[in-house]
Amino acid sequence: HLIPDDLFTAINDLKRDLNAVVLAHYYQDPDIQDIADYIGDSLGLSQQAAMTDADVIVFAGVHFMAETAKILNPDKLVLLPDLNAGCSLADSCPPQEFSKFKAKYPDHLVISYINCTAEIKAMSDIICTSSNAVKIVNQIPLDQQIIFAPDRNLGRYVMEQTGRNLVLWQGSCIVHETFSERKIIQLKIEHPEAEIIAHPECEPAILRHASYIGSTTALLNYCQKSSSQAFIVATEPGIIHQMQKEEPQKIFIPAPAINNCACNECPHMRLNTLEKLYLAMKNKQPEITLPEDIQQKALRPIQKMLLMS
Ligand code: 13P
Ligand code: SF4
Repeated sequence: HLIPDDLFTAINDLKRDLNAVVLAHYYQDPDIQDIADYIGDSLGLSQQAAMTDADVIVFAGVHFMAETAKILNPDKLVLLPDLNAGCSLADSCPPQEFSKFKAKYPDHLVISYINCTAEIKAMSDIICTSSNAVKIVNQIPLDQQIIFAPDRNLGRYVMEQTGRNLVLWQGSCIVHETFSERKIIQLKIEHPEAEIIAHPECEPAILRHASYIGSTTALLNYCQKSSSQAFIVATEPGIIHQMQKEEPQKIFIPAPAINNCACNECPHMRLNTLEKLYLAMKNKQPEITLPEDIQQKALRPIQKMLLMS
């Protein structure tokens, strides 16, 4: 296909023709965020996917997010602009190894962070996201033991917040492990007026300097509420596009990575482009498909999360 010059108009036309909705995560390129019908964190995006009456869901995010939308909408066409848009955290928890790990704790409830494959979701009791993990763990009776997978950093943070002991799967996100504590402290010395805010996927060495910790949506809301005029933002810098839009007079400084690379940008999220999004809609592929048994088993823990949020 030829790529039209005005991709915004072409995508909007396709949205109408297909009765499609474009859902985008805050870590997407700014132009994708600008064409989206809804931008959100992982919880917001799954809530939108659960309630949409569109025929086609175009998911501008990574594979596990589009997969979640498909699990919630088995009869809808769910498109992901680039099928290679994976997630290091989801990859850090292979189903076979997780199954062996789970077998060692037969009495434990399994709470899995949404950043995991459909196979892991199918082995879980409840799904959570970074915005509701603490809330969900707090609803579990104290005598019930819990496995928390796959992110050890979010897991440790939930342990601190709830005072509970969780059995953690030792996974992590390559993006949120890349921040340099030394460089963040240096930045803070250069900008003493700036508040450090962080996503709970960051390591404890970063989180201990943060005056606020939350999901991408929570961070965005915090920047609007806070009287501070400057922020050092320790998460994927795609979110800064919305922060700057909402608060044009405030200053947002992306937290620096260990070796002056752009590795604070998620290489998976950034595989999606406006062009690929257009082509996905035009060609009605790449499409997300799932084996029926996995789809069915993975649905219950997601529905539980939506009820408990
Ligand atoms: P939230 O969308 O819950 O803030 O999580 C961030 C993330 O890493 C998504 O992959
Ligand atoms: Fe996965 Fe990390 Fe990218 Fe989020 S930022 S999609 S957790 S690799």
